[in-house]
Amino acid sequence: MYIGIFDSGIGGMTLLHQALVLLPQENFIFYADTDHVPYGTKSREQVVSYVDEVIRFMIAQNCKAVVIACNTATAAAAEQMRSKYKELPIIGIEPAVKPAVAERDGKRVMVVATPLTVHEKRLQKLVERVDDEHVVDLLELPGLVEFAERGEFESEHVTAYLQEKFAGYALEQYGELVLGCTHFNYFKDTFRTLLPQGIHILDGTLGTVRQLMRVLASKEALVPQTADEAAGGKVRYFASGREILDADGLERINKLHERLEKMSVLS
Ligand code: DGL
Repeated sequence: MYIGIFDSGIGGMTLLHQALVLLPQENFIFYADTDHVPYGTKSREQVVSYVDEVIRFMIAQNCKAVVIACNTATAAAAEQMRSKYKELPIIGIEPAVKPAVAERDGKRVMVVATPLTVHEKRLQKLVERVDDEHVVDLLELPGLVEFAERGEFESEHVTAYLQEKFAGYALEQYGELVLGCTHFNYFKDTFRTLLPQGIHILDGTLGTVRQLMRVLASKEALVPQTADEAAGGKVRYFASGREILDADGLERINKLHERLEKMSVLS
């Protein structure tokens, strides 16, 4: 059986990348909903219907759990999907606001995410719960999703876009940057260049993979670590239900893993 991981696009590969490290004995389906990307500028109703379609696909592919590797889809649809598909473990990534507030060391916290995530009650409630001292700011960066989907990770346009978005903020006041959209992990090098030196960049990837491990362990559904290693670590990639099997498509995916590997040391 597979573990299904999905996002609107390539952002969720951050989570897949981490899952392959921590669960090398498992096999995965990665689904990028490229027909509907971006999710972050759509309505909640639209995103719920896209997510529902993906989950039905994952069930048909014999997935034992589904990870929503998209902060926007978690915010808009996770609760509804959990009550609809009660038998299926559904784990969703969320912005790492709580650890950021706990570690901020007197400084402010900036959470960057898509417009839909920022406007959904789920994030607002999370911030209300942990932000007693009003140190958390939310900033929408939908343009980064478009840059990422075109494979433009480092350019003067990316830098100019972020400079313009950060222009109204006294950046030296910030100690934590929370990446509240999985697409944003591809831009850690530019964030590092534009933000104060000591700023800590964090996201919910590791916590989500750990939660996946706990949930599967509690259902005795994890493949044991001692299992034949060669049987694990396989990934089938889908673009909105169409399996990617051509050499160019698979090469593009390899390049994305390489980029993520490079970015992973910049936290
Ligand atoms: N990668 C997604 C997230 O984590 C959403 C990007 C989009 O489709 O707008 O929120």
